[in-house]
Amino acid sequence: MAWCGLDFGTSNSTLGLADGNAARLAPLEGGAVTLPSALFFDAETDDPVFGRQAIATYIEGNDGRLMRSLKSVLGSDLMDQETRLHGRKIHFQDAIGLLLGHIKLLGEDAASHKLDSVVQGRPVHFVDDDEAADAKAQATLEDILRQTGFRHVSFQYEPIAAALHYESTLEREELAVIADIGGGTSDFSVVRLGPARAKRPDRSADILANDGVRVGGTDLDRLASLASIMPELGYGHTVRNDGLKAPVSLYHDFASWAKINFLYVHSVLASVRQMKRTARNPIPFERMETALEERLGHWLALQAESAKIALSEVEDTRIDLGRIEPGLGVWLDRAQLGRVIEASMTKIGDVIERCVKAAGVAPEKIDSLVMTGGSALLPMVRDALSSRLPAARLVDADHFGAIGLGLALEARRRYA
Ligand SMILES: Nc1ncnc2c1ncn2[C@@H]1O[C@H](COP(=O)(O)OP(=O)(O)OP(=O)(O)O)[C@@H](O)[C@H]1O
Ligand SMILES: [Mg+2]
Repeated sequence: MAWCGLDFGTSNSTLGLADGNAARLAPLEGGAVTLPSALFFDAETDDPVFGRQAIATYIEGNDGRLMRSLKSVLGSDLMDQETRLHGRKIHFQDAIGLLLGHIKLLGEDAASHKLDSVVQGRPVHFVDDDEAADAKAQATLEDILRQTGFRHVSFQYEPIAAALHYESTLEREELAVIADIGGGTSDFSVVRLGPARAKRPDRSADILANDGVRVGGTDLDRLASLASIMPELGYGHTVRNDGLKAPVSLYHDFASWAKINFLYVHSVLASVRQMKRTARNPIPFERMETALEERLGHWLALQAESAKIALSEVEDTRIDLGRIEPGLGVWLDRAQLGRVIEASMTKIGDVIERCVKAAGVAPEKIDSLVMTGGSALLPMVRDALSSRLPAARLVDADHFGAIGLGLALEARRRYA
C-alpha cells in the first residue's frame, strides 16, 4: 500500500508515493519524475498530450493550443473564461482535470494499485490579500481532484511539505526557514525540525509561521521578456505621429504564460495591423503580426525562460528570435535581469522577513535557510533571501522533488 502526495506546480508537477519504509517520486514522463504542467490540444484530435511532449508538439509547429501556468489561473477571473480552438471551447478547469487525471493514472501504475486519498500541496496564498478568492482557488482544486476519482482530498502548505522531507535527512534539531521559490509563488515556513520531533503525531506546535506571495519564476520570465524581447515587437514604440505608444497591456499579456492564448483572436491581430500602418517604424509591428499569426507567444515565453535560466550560470546570453525574423536576436545580461527583477526580489525579501517576525524569533536565531523550488537556483533570488538571514546556513533541498516527497510523507501520516 502506498499513500500519495501531489505537487501540482505552476511549472512542474510531481507525485510522491510513501509506503511503510520510504517516500519516492513516481515516474511521470519516460524516466523523469517531474512533469511540466503543460498540455497541448491538437486542432485535429481531441486527445491532449502532456508535459515535455506537449511543449515539443507545440514547438514543432503543430496547429493547436499549448496551455501552461494553469495553476496561476486558480482563484482568478480567468478561471471562467475559455480558450477557443476551431470552434471547440477549452475551459481551464477541464484542462487542469485532464492534467491531474493523467498524473493520477501514472501514480497508480507506479503504485500498482488505485489511489483514492491524496494530500495536495498548496501555496500559502493562491491569491494575495483576498481570502475569499484564495478559498475559492482551493475549493476549485478540491473539486477537480474529486472529479479525477480521489475520494479523500486534503491540503498542506508546500513549504511545510518540503520541511517534512528535509527533516527526514536531519540528525539533530534545527530552527529552519524553508523557502520554496517556484514558478508562480514564493512560500516560506519557519519550523522546528529534528529526528525526535519528526515522530510526533501533531506538529502544529513546531510550525511557527507561514507566509507567501504571488511572485515566482513566471513573473521573472515576463519581466525578462518585457526588457529584451517585447521591445523588438513594438513594446515602448510610438504608433502615431502624436507620440501615442503601443498599448502596454498587449505586451504584458503576450509575455504572461496564462494569457497568451487569449490574444489569438482577430480583434488583436487587426489592431496590430493598424499600428503597423500608422507607426513611423512598422518593422516591430510586422514582427508582432507574425508572432500572432504563427502563434509564437509560448515560444517567445520559452525563449525568455531559457535566457533567465541560462543567466543563473553565465553573465550574458543571446535570445534567438529567428522564428520571428531570420537572424533576429537580442542579448540579455545578468545585471540587466537583476535590475528588472529588483522590485520582485525586494518583495520576496520583505515576505521572508515578515514571516520570521511573525514566528516571534530573532533572525539571528535561525539555523538554516533551506531553499527549494526551481527559482531558488537564481543567484538574485538566493541573495535576496540570504541577505535577510545572514547568520543562517544555506541548504539546498531537492529543488524539484522535495515537496512531492514531503506531501507523500504527510499522506502516510494522515491516511495510514
Ligand atoms: N536554474 C534555474 N535558474 C533560475 N530559474 C530556474 C532554474 N531552473 C528552473 N527555474 C525556474 O523555476 C520555476 C519552476 O520551479 P518549480 O518547478 O519549483 O515551480 P512550481 O512548483 O511548478 O511552481 P509553484 O510552486 O510556484 O506553483 C520556473 O519558473 C523555471 O523557469
Ligand atoms: Mg512548487
